[in-house]
Amino acid sequence: MLHGDRARLVRRFVERFDHHDPEFADEEIPFAVYAALRRERPVAWTDAHGGFWVVSRYADVARVARDDLTFSSARGITIPHPVPPVEGLPPDQQLRMIPIDVDPPQFFAYRKLVDPLFSPARLPHQEPDVREIVGRLIDAFIAKGRCDLHEDFAKPLPGILTVRILGLPEADWRRYAEPFHAAIHAKPEQAAAGARDFYLDNARAMLAVAAERRSEPRKDVLSALASATLEGRPLRDLEIFGIANLILVGGVETTTNAMGSAFVYLSRHPELRQRLIESPGLLPGAVEEFLRVFAPVQGLARTAMRDCEIAGQRIREGERVLMLWASANRDEAEFPAPDDVIVDRHPNRHLTFGVGNHRCLGSNLARLEFRIALEELLRRIPDFRVDEAGLRVQPDVGTTFGYGAIPVRFTPG
Ligand code: HEM
Repeated sequence: MLHGDRARLVRRFVERFDHHDPEFADEEIPFAVYAALRRERPVAWTDAHGGFWVVSRYADVARVARDDLTFSSARGITIPHPVPPVEGLPPDQQLRMIPIDVDPPQFFAYRKLVDPLFSPARLPHQEPDVREIVGRLIDAFIAKGRCDLHEDFAKPLPGILTVRILGLPEADWRRYAEPFHAAIHAKPEQAAAGARDFYLDNARAMLAVAAERRSEPRKDVLSALASATLEGRPLRDLEIFGIANLILVGGVETTTNAMGSAFVYLSRHPELRQRLIESPGLLPGAVEEFLRVFAPVQGLARTAMRDCEIAGQRIREGERVLMLWASANRDEAEFPAPDDVIVDRHPNRHLTFGVGNHRCLGSNLARLEFRIALEELLRRIPDFRVDEAGLRVQPDVGTTFGYGAIPVRFTPG
C-alpha cells in the first residue's frame, strides 16, 4: 500500500497515464498504477503523447494482441514511435523492424524466413556458447568480491551472445548494444533524435558484413539472411537490416533487464535463493515466474484499423492502443496471488513474450540465457548481496523496466 505523495502520484497516473513521465520510473509506482487501472479504468484514455488507449486486463490485452487484422503493428509498436516513418515513402522503403512492424499477410512470409533461425532445435548448440560467455564474465570479477551485476554481467551476456549469433565482430558488442540500452531508457525526444543516425550507422556496418558473407558464408544469421530468398527473390538491403536490427534490439535490452530484476529479488529474498541453490531443478520454473512478475517489456502498441470495441469501450479507427503485458501478468483474474513469486506456479501463461502472431522469436534463447546465468551465479557467488544504496532504476521505464546499476558484494572466489 502506498501512502501520501506516492498514493497521489498513482492517482495522477490513473487519471492521466504517462509511462514516460520521470516520476513513473520507480520500482513500485508502475505496478500500483496498473492495479488501479485494472480495477477502475481497464480501457483508459490518456492525452499524453498525442493520445492513446491503455489496456490493462489480461483478457483484453490478449484479445488485442491476437487480433492483428483489427489492431495493426505497422504504424509503430511503441508510443511514441522511435523512428517516425518518412512521409510519402511506401512501407517497403521505410526504415522498419521486420517482422515486428509488419502486418499479415506480408508478415507471414517474413516470419517463416526467421523462425528456423531461432527454433528450439538450435538451442542445444547455443548452450555451450552461453555457458562459455557466462563463465568468462564471472571469472572477470569473482576474485574482487564485488561487481555491478548490470554492467558486468546482465548487459554483456546478451550483448556478446547476440552479436555472435548475428555474425558481427564480438569485440564490437558495446558499439551495437549500448545505443539501444541508452535509447530505450532515454526521454522519448532524446531517443528519437539519436535513433535515425544510429540506425543508419548500424545499417552500413551490418550490410557490409552481409555482403562479405554472400561470397563466404558462415553459420551465422547475417550469412543466412544474405543468401535467403523471399517469394523467389533475394532479400533487399532494407529487409536484411530490418531483420538483423530487430534481433539486436530484441536480443540485448529485454534479457538484460529480465535478469537484473531477478538478481535484485534474490538478494532481497535469501530464503528463496537458498531453495534454488539446494534444488536447481526449480530453476526453469523460477525463470518463468521471474519473467511473469518482472516482465521487462511493460507494454507495446497497436493502431485500430477500423472502429471497434475493447471491453465495451468504443475505439475509433486510427486510435492507438497500448497493451500492458506487465499489467496483464499481474491480473488477479488470471493469476492467484499475482504479486508473489511462486516458483512452481502452474499454469503460468504470462504475456511477457507477447501472444498471437508476433509472439517473441527469441523467447527460448532468452530462457536459456536466463537459466544458465542464474545457475552459474548461484553456484559461484551464492552469497551476493545488493548494495541497496547504489541500486538504480533506469530513468525511463515506460517501455522496458530495468535497473541501471546493481552493485553487489560477495565472498571472493
Ligand atoms: C526476456 C527477454 C525478451 C522479452 C521480454 C521479449 C519480449 C518480446 C515481446 C513482448 C514481443 C512481442 C512483440 C509484439 O507483439 O509486437 C517480442 C517479439 C520479438 N522478439 Fe522478443 N523478447 C525477449 C527476448 C528476445 C531475444 C533474445 C530475441 C532475439 C532473437 C528477441 C527477438 C524478438 C523478435 C524478432 C520479435 C518479433 C517477432 C514478430 O514480430 O513476429 N526477443 N519479444
